[in-house]
Amino acid sequence: MKALVLSGGSGTRLRPITHTSPKQLVPVANKPVLYYVLEDIAGAGITDVGIVVGETADEIQDAVGDGSKFGLQVTYLPQQAPLGLAHAVLIAREYLGDDDFVMYLGDNFVVGGITELVDEFRAERPDARILLTRVPDPTAFGVAELDAEGRVRGLEEKPEQPKSDLALVGVYLFTPAVHEAVRAIKPSWRGELEITHALQWLIDHRRDVRSTVIHGYWKDTGNVADMLEVNRTVLEGIEARVEGSVDADSEVIGRVRIDAGARVLGSRIVGPAVIGAGTVIVNSYVGPYSSIADNCRIEDTEIEFSIVLNDAHLNGVRRVRASLVGRSVTVSPAPRVPSSNRLVLGDHSEVQIAS
Ligand code: G1P
Repeated sequence: MKALVLSGGSGTRLRPITHTSPKQLVPVANKPVLYYVLEDIAGAGITDVGIVVGETADEIQDAVGDGSKFGLQVTYLPQQAPLGLAHAVLIAREYLGDDDFVMYLGDNFVVGGITELVDEFRAERPDARILLTRVPDPTAFGVAELDAEGRVRGLEEKPEQPKSDLALVGVYLFTPAVHEAVRAIKPSWRGELEITHALQWLIDHRRDVRSTVIHGYWKDTGNVADMLEVNRTVLEGIEARVEGSVDADSEVIGRVRIDAGARVLGSRIVGPAVIGAGTVIVNSYVGPYSSIADNCRIEDTEIEFSIVLNDAHLNGVRRVRASLVGRSVTVSPAPRVPSSNRLVLGDHSEVQIAS
């Protein structure tokens, strides 16, 4: 069995972060979302992974390399344009050969991994198995309609009037039967070859398409609220480990991971939280559900329930909550007279000021 990981796409919902970094590489608990995907695949006993890449191919390759650090053998499959999930299967035909495969969207996050699902699929080998989860707004997803026995009766891509609240999760298990389906379908209204339509084609041709309903899932960590929720969930599971230095005037409470080379001075850190290598925290409060990446400086600041990326400097900000701060961002106090806010913000930045 192989894996096909989709890591193209432009990530418009996560701007401005995605102006400079692919959405699959945005970190959760200081680790890119894509790494969790690859670890899930390795955990399920799969070693051959094809990663479909687009415009951001270079960054993805820099981050993943040949896959050996995950125990995987990675092959990169360039997709000329983001023409849909079924199009990705189409271009991966030669790589996939006649193997079964799991398709995993590189910006999806499934709590608990996929090992059980893959084992079950290997044992039963229906033509396809999809994962479903109940969501409050199904219009943003592919939506499934099940019959009384729980068999998939029909699927619709981003319907205006959803027939259920069961959304398609970005993990799909396929036998080679899917190849005929992706060749047969036509592009949708959004100009993409939809995997939803390929699955519907299989159902219409009396193929065996089964479903599993799961809990603990986020669609593409494609917006800030989702990112913060995934970050919260992952931090819930971390172990306390202090490898950096904490001075006598500081207090570290609860499950906090402080990486080697990080320094905490005169500060209070309340977990769950992670502090990356080389980061310095001075006279500050870092509260629960915070992930501070590497080489940051947090000074005279209070922050909680937030994600801060590498090399950011926050100075004199009280208090930061529910925020996503990009790489090399600087926030510092304005001169007292005249009192004013001075902002230099990149395209698509969003700022909410407490005043
Ligand atoms: C895609 C699929 C959709 C599925 C979703 C899961 O949507 O088309 O059926 O529910 O992934 O992430 P897209 O990310 O292309 O909007």
